[in-house]
Amino acid sequence: MSNLMWSKNVSLQTGVLTLSGISAAQLGKEFGTPSFFLDEEAFRSRAISWQRSLESEFGPNAGTIFYAAKSFICTAVAQWIAEIGIGIDVCTGGELAVALAGGISPEKIELHGNNKSVAEIDRAVSVGVRTIVIDSLIEIERVAAAAQKAGKRQAVMLRLTPGIEAHTHEKISTAHEDVKFGFSIASGAAWDAAEAVATHPQLELRGVHCHIGSQIFGSEAHEIATERLVGFMAKYRDAFGIELPELDLGGGFGIAYIEGDITVEPSDVLPQIHAALKKVCAEKNLAIPTISLEPGRNIVGPTMFTLYEVGTVKDVVIEGGKVRTYVSVDGGMSDNARTALYDAQYTAVIAQRISSAPLTLTRLVGKHCETGDIIINEIQLPSDIAPGDLIATPATGAYGRSMASNYNHVPRPPVVAVKDGKARVIVRRENEADLLALDVKE
Ligand code: LLP
Repeated sequence: MSNLMWSKNVSLQTGVLTLSGISAAQLGKEFGTPSFFLDEEAFRSRAISWQRSLESEFGPNAGTIFYAAKSFICTAVAQWIAEIGIGIDVCTGGELAVALAGGISPEKIELHGNNKSVAEIDRAVSVGVRTIVIDSLIEIERVAAAAQKAGKRQAVMLRLTPGIEAHTHEKISTAHEDVKFGFSIASGAAWDAAEAVATHPQLELRGVHCHIGSQIFGSEAHEIATERLVGFMAKYRDAFGIELPELDLGGGFGIAYIEGDITVEPSDVLPQIHAALKKVCAEKNLAIPTISLEPGRNIVGPTMFTLYEVGTVKDVVIEGGKVRTYVSVDGGMSDNARTALYDAQYTAVIAQRISSAPLTLTRLVGKHCETGDIIINEIQLPSDIAPGDLIATPATGAYGRSMASNYNHVPRPPVVAVKDGKARVIVRRENEADLLALDVKE
């Protein structure tokens, strides 16, 4: 468990921010703002730590860490994943294309999605992805047809909804009953799906999967999911005489965004999940299945910060005659949609100088034409904050750049990887030509 919002090679000790020894001022000058800066060594070590911890906890039953590409992916990061040797979870043809472009072996790729197109399924089957995680009865037919066409037997898993109300924001909670994802265990839909898969010799059911939500703390929800999924596997064994070999418990492990938050580390949850697994497998007289996980946010989230430049500062008189200082930066909801979407909380610092000015109630906002374009709703920042100051917001690695948009025709920021005192662009900044590239002139 750690309570650091900043990645390990970030220092704030001298009052100015440095990443791997390079100052925020230098980074801003060289790469411009807004930009995402990625602590490459921290990314690699978090990814490796999940895989090693899984192996040391589960021994021969350890499966694969499938990094959730949706949290952030680009070709360079896919290359790192290939080098590190973990797997990847992709949920669209686009994410699959990046994984392949980065040289990730299809054997390490699992395909997700509640509405995979026939073309996406065909591509996944023909390149030979390791597993397709099936989400609907219609998809069973589609994957079987694709396998038939390719003359292959395709390994599949069933995505199940174990009916858990995970304690997180409703929009990122995925395993209660009334959601679009998966097959409900309680309603019998999961059983119907298992029976349907069994009618297709082209499909090999490898096991069951669930993803209970995102930004979850503690291991309780994953433990309950384990019990319910293993219960299903036991029922399957009783009916079909086959022990399903694999269990994938998805991702969802939380990270620190603001002071007082914690970042879940593998050692905080894996022993508890293992204990729950051993207990329920013993009760059901089942061999322990191979366990896989799909952390996204927990790997990449803490490894990036966003650097902005302040453009304007405005004092606004609010209720009770109080003053709120609006600090506008050169990005906003186009590079961080999470505050607007999920009421997510972030923190920020002035990155290039020390200030001893008294703190004042501040709202950090972007440059978009929208009141809800808020990065931080309420934060105490030094009252001498001024145009030209650099502002850094930590823990923006997950669902930041990956959910970025071109709203108001704002070019999306670059991602700059920093390692051993050297910085390099791994996703370049969009420019005006990019913004116009898709338009067809009359
Ligand atoms: N596996 C599956 C099947 C998923 O659907 C997800 C996330 C993950 C793994 C990775 O979850 P993580 O470890 O990153 O929590 N945009 C939202 C999060 C949506 C997550 C969707 N699925 C946010 O910004 O909070």
